[in-house]
Amino acid sequence: MVTLHEVLNQAETEGVAIGHFNVSDWITLKAVFESASDENVPVIVGASEGERQFLGVRQIAAVVKSLREECGFPIFLNADHTHSLASAMEAAKAGFDWIVFDVSTLPLEENIRQTRTAVEALKAIRPEILVEGEIGDIGSGSEIHDAARDLRKGLTAPAEARQFVEETRIDTLAPAVGNMHGMLKSMVAGDTKKRLDIERIRTIKEQTRVFMTLHGASGTDDGDLRRAIAAGITVVHINTEVRIAWRRGLDRALSAQPNEIVPYKILPKAIDSVKELVAARLALFSSGRRHVRLASEQSSERSVAEQPR
Ligand code: G3H
Ligand code: ZN
Repeated sequence: MVTLHEVLNQAETEGVAIGHFNVSDWITLKAVFESASDENVPVIVGASEGERQFLGVRQIAAVVKSLREECGFPIFLNADHTHSLASAMEAAKAGFDWIVFDVSTLPLEENIRQTRTAVEALKAIRPEILVEGEIGDIGSGSEIHDAARDLRKGLTAPAEARQFVEETRIDTLAPAVGNMHGMLKSMVAGDTKKRLDIERIRTIKEQTRVFMTLHGASGTDDGDLRRAIAAGITVVHINTEVRIAWRRGLDRALSAQPNEIVPYKILPKAIDSVKELVAARLALFSSGRRHVRLASEQSSERSVAEQPR
């Protein structure tokens, strides 16, 4: 089975991004898994501290492991926005593939110190685990917000990103590049979009050379997402859009069948609603795919060319 590191390397080579979708329940997990299987692309599911408290840390890890091993499908699990070392270590021991260690509200030096400690502690538990660090301000809460925050002061400075990556030895970086957690009401209505600082993404990538994750991607302009991936983003996190699709699907199912009480007759509509969203996002993230010739293709072309004429 392909490893998560190999999946990221391949995505970077091909100029695509891997979709990361947060899950809070079996419905969203089932939808993400089925959608990625239909599209035949690797996928990451994330559970933040609140989401995994609801799901059970070891329980969500066991289910994702079962999907990966029994179905032979590259689905991976991320402990999203983990704010304490104890919580990060609990997730690593439970079998999570990736930890987003997020102490980004601290001053840079303290963020570096705590993130570096976390990298060492987590790799001691499972050397293959990926650890992500975060600098800058991308707000919090995958919810529908009333008012826009001014995130301009919290944008990630490329020189600080470089120092952060060098001193913490993280595997992946979450920068602030115009992204923001959650959506404004106008974004839910489709009247406004988040816009990204593509040049900043490109410069941070050049300065750090690590994989970069775009958090807070719900409600982002599609063209900006394509350009961000071309400039160096390898993973894109979506949560609020998943939650909206889940809620709309569930509302539709309940009002279409007001007297139905059988969960497995009601919930497929919620699953279909989330699947539709996930499929559209996965298609967008892969839309800039470059065809990369495999070594086997090159050697078979060589052997044809070398045949006597
Ligand atoms: O870590 C989760 C994501 O960054 C989700 O952000 O709710 O804006 O999609 P979002
Ligand atoms: Zn996030």
